[in-house]
Order: sequence, then structure tokens, then C-alpha cells
Amino acid sequence: MPIATEIRPVPGTLIDSAADLVAIPVVRGGAAPTALAAGAGVEPAELDARLPAPAAALVAHYELTGKPGEIAQFPADLGSGLVRVVLLGVGEGAPADLRTAGAALARAAKGHGTAASTVALLEPVADGGAGAVEAFAEGALLASYRFSLASEQKGAAPLETLLLVGADSAEAASALGRGEALARATALARDLINTPSSEKDPAWLAARAGVVAAESGLHAEVWDEDRLVRDGFGAILAVGAGSDRPPRMVRLDYRPQNPAAHIVLVGKGITFDSGGLSLKPNDNMKLMKTDMSGAAVVLGVMSALAGLGSRVAVTGLLPVAENAFSGSALRPGDVIPAYDGRTIEVLNTDAEGRLVMADALGYAVARLEPDALVDVATLTGAAKVALGTGTGALFSGDDALAAALAEAGEASGEPVWRMPLTEEYRDALQSRVADLANVGDGGYGSPGAAEAGLFLREFTGGLPWAHLDIAGPGRSVSDEGVLSKGGTAFSTRLLLRWLSADGPAAGPGGASG
Ligand code: BES
Ligand code: MN
Ligand code: ZN
Repeated sequence: MPIATEIRPVPGTLIDSAADLVAIPVVRGGAAPTALAAGAGVEPAELDARLPAPAAALVAHYELTGKPGEIAQFPADLGSGLVRVVLLGVGEGAPADLRTAGAALARAAKGHGTAASTVALLEPVADGGAGAVEAFAEGALLASYRFSLASEQKGAAPLETLLLVGADSAEAASALGRGEALARATALARDLINTPSSEKDPAWLAARAGVVAAESGLHAEVWDEDRLVRDGFGAILAVGAGSDRPPRMVRLDYRPQNPAAHIVLVGKGITFDSGGLSLKPNDNMKLMKTDMSGAAVVLGVMSALAGLGSRVAVTGLLPVAENAFSGSALRPGDVIPAYDGRTIEVLNTDAEGRLVMADALGYAVARLEPDALVDVATLTGAAKVALGTGTGALFSGDDALAAALAEAGEASGEPVWRMPLTEEYRDALQSRVADLANVGDGGYGSPGAAEAGLFLREFTGGLPWAHLDIAGPGRSVSDEGVLSKGGTAFSTRLLLRWLSADGPAAGPGGASG
């Protein structure tokens, strides 16, 4: 469901805004946390006079520290009747602090019509005033996201309007636009991820991709089953064989003028992962409508590239299939032909993601001449065990590409941690009857995330490549901060920041170095 909250930059001051909730930032640092009482154009003394006590006294009373997202609330009459005043911790005013603060404010403001806050004031504190506005908007909108198919909405409604007081400069407006673009791309992906698999089959997802492409000015191409057969996508077909809802492959092209580089993004699009004949226990299976998170992330990213003014040509590939359990399903022991001509012995049908990814990567290498490949997949439970739900696993043989992605993750609050592609583990994927096996024979306790990465690497043709395993951070178990329970679309903002970075040195242009 699209984010219901609207953000509007307005001139004036916090005092004269027409909001029923007014947030005053509290900054950490210095001798004591300070309420940035002034609001553009308001003297601290004037605001102090309207609060129940001077701002500094309230900060002391509530024992506020200025920690990002910290909140104290009380009623006050700022001049036009009683409103709720929120003292909002904004840390040092760094973008990450503001993202957290924006999310906390949006959560505190649920059920309200209009809230006003100010971030323009933080310019003297943070070095990037624009970065502050972008992150504040991003955090507030992400926290307002919700997905519900209930006949009656439970809980307070999202905040309707957030007024950013004093953020009405051209620079602030464009920063606000970037924050909004990042949040709305994420929401688009989250909606796809949260849609139940009864509705979300491969044809449905491909159709949604077509609609998004049309709306965002992208060229789209969809392979149906017949065309997948004709073009030799043997692994996608094999994974989809057990389902009576046949697989698809989607290609989306974003082509700016004079592109700085060409990047291919590949996203795992398993619309439901039962495990296939290597059936999952129910506790693991019940979450597997989210197994197309990689494809949703790539689609969300593609939808926002033009709006963010990315100067990189990007091709998005979504291999989409349902991994079902049936008499026509792929069997353990089957040997299947991949797009690149090699054969794969399938020893576990639950290691299906790497199979569909192999075909898409093979297609990219054979047909697209990219400068770099980046894939996103909810690929292994092992990555989740290793890094938990807060951090994504990053595998890459290319130091510059890995560093650029890690930096974009840091800047986005979507951290990824680089893991080794230990060469010795490659031996485990040796097959006696085919070119390659899809799993090692070590069973539980084997290095599952690295093995999956090494398997994918086989299909990257020696090109600069990075693999993001988001099985851990791809889902959230609670509504907290910028996350809502369910699909998180983790790495959407990371990839968008990477692909729309200003200087080529900081962006993907440096990837092949
Ligand atoms: N989709 C799963 C991975 C997954 C696990 C995603 C938990 C999100 C949360 C993937 O297809 C899978 O089943 N992987 C297997 C691989 C194994 C059979 C080698 C796994 O991780 O157990
Ligand atoms: Mn699986
Ligand atoms: Zn899977």
C-alpha cells in the first residue's frame, strides 16, 4: 500500500504552523542537550514563554539526552490553542540520526492530521543540511509504511501531513524529493513482498513489473514459458516445473544519455519457496512468500532511477518462478541445463534460488556486456545465522565494488558485511555427473552462504560482481524504526544511493577499477 503520509516544506515558524503536533529537535553534544527552540525566525525566549517551562528546563525535567529518536510529549498552547509538543532527539544531526528521528516522529504522530517539525535548523549542526532533510523525510515516510489486508484497519492511522518548517529552499526541496523517492521505491518493493503467494504468482509479478516499467519510463521485456524454452533458460524452467503457475523472466532497461557505466542488477524472484520435493518444514515455509525480495528490490530500484537522476545505464533482470511440490517438480538427482550451456546436478531442490539466478547471470554475461553485475537474493538461511537480521551478507571478488556497496549501505542504514569467497569451498560443488552440483555434500554445518556465493560466481564470466544475500535483513518481526513487520526491501536504498551517487569515483563508474 502506498505510503499515506505527505511531506510539505513550508515557510514560517514552528509556532505559527497549523499543526496539531509540533516537534522541537533536541541536539546532543556540548555541555547539555539543547532544544533547538528557535524554529526558523523564532527567538528561543519567545518559544520558552509559550512552553509549560523553558525548553532547557523541560529537557532537564524529562532527562533527555538528545539520543536520536528519543521523545518526550506534553500539551502546550503555542499561540493557536492546545497542541501536542514533542521534544525529539536528533543526536548530532547526522543523516543517520535524522533518519531515526524522522521515523520516531512519524510513529509518535500516528493518528494525527498534521505534524510540524524543523530540520533546516540543523544546518549549523550537521555539515550536510540537505542530507539531513533527505534522511528525515526518508525515515518519516518509511515508518509510515503499512501493509494490511484486514477488513478493518487496526491501530492508529499514519500521519497525514508532515510540515517541514523552514525547509522551503530549492536545495531542501530537492533533498526532500530524494528522501521521498528512496522511501517510495522501498514501499513499492515491500508491497510486492508482502503480497500473499495466492495472488503473487510469476505471471502476476511479471505483469506488475510491466506496469511499474510503463510508469517509470523503462523498457520492459517479459519471457513467458514458451520463450524461456526457446531461449534455453533451463534452470528457471526446471525450478518452475513443479508449479502449474509457470515461470517468467523479466528484463527492465534504464538508459540515461551518455551513461557513465552499465550495471546489471539481478534479483531472485521465487514467488513461493516450499523447498520443492526437498520440502521445508512448515515453520520455515510459512515465511516464504518473501522469497522474491531480491526481484522486488531490483524493481523498486529500477522504478526510482530516473527520478533520482542516475547517470548509469542499468538493466534489471528478474528470474521469477514458484518452487512448488508436485509430481512434475524437479527431483533431487536431476541434471538440468543452464542458460550458459553447462549442466547442473540438483542435489537439493530447496537450493533453487541459485539455479534461477544462474540463468539470469548467464544471460547478462552472454548478452549485456555490463561493467559490473550485482545480484540480490534471499539466498541462504546460513547468511541469516551468520549476521542476524540487521546486516546483509556481501560477497565479491572486486574490492572497489565491495567497498562502494558497503559505503552506500552505511549511508543508507542498510549495513552489509563483506564475507570471504573461500576458494577451498569451491571443491564441494564438484559433481560426478554434471559440470556442477547446486549444493555441497556437507549438510548442516557446511558454509552455506559462501557455497551459494561460489556457485553464483561460476556464472559471472569473470566480470566484476557482487552478491548481496539478504535472507536475514529481508524480513522484520516487528514495527520498529524505519521497518514494519514483514518484508523490508532491504538494500533498495543502498543500491539507489550507489547508482545515483554524484561523482563517478564514488559511484558505479569506479566499480571496474
Ligand atoms: N529461500 C531460502 C533461504 C532463506 C532462508 C531465505 C531463511 C529467508 C529466510 C533458500 O531457497 C533456501 O531454501 N536455502 C537453503 C539452501 C540449502 C538447501 C543448501 C537453506 O538456506 O537452508
Ligand atoms: Mn529454497
Ligand atoms: Zn529460496
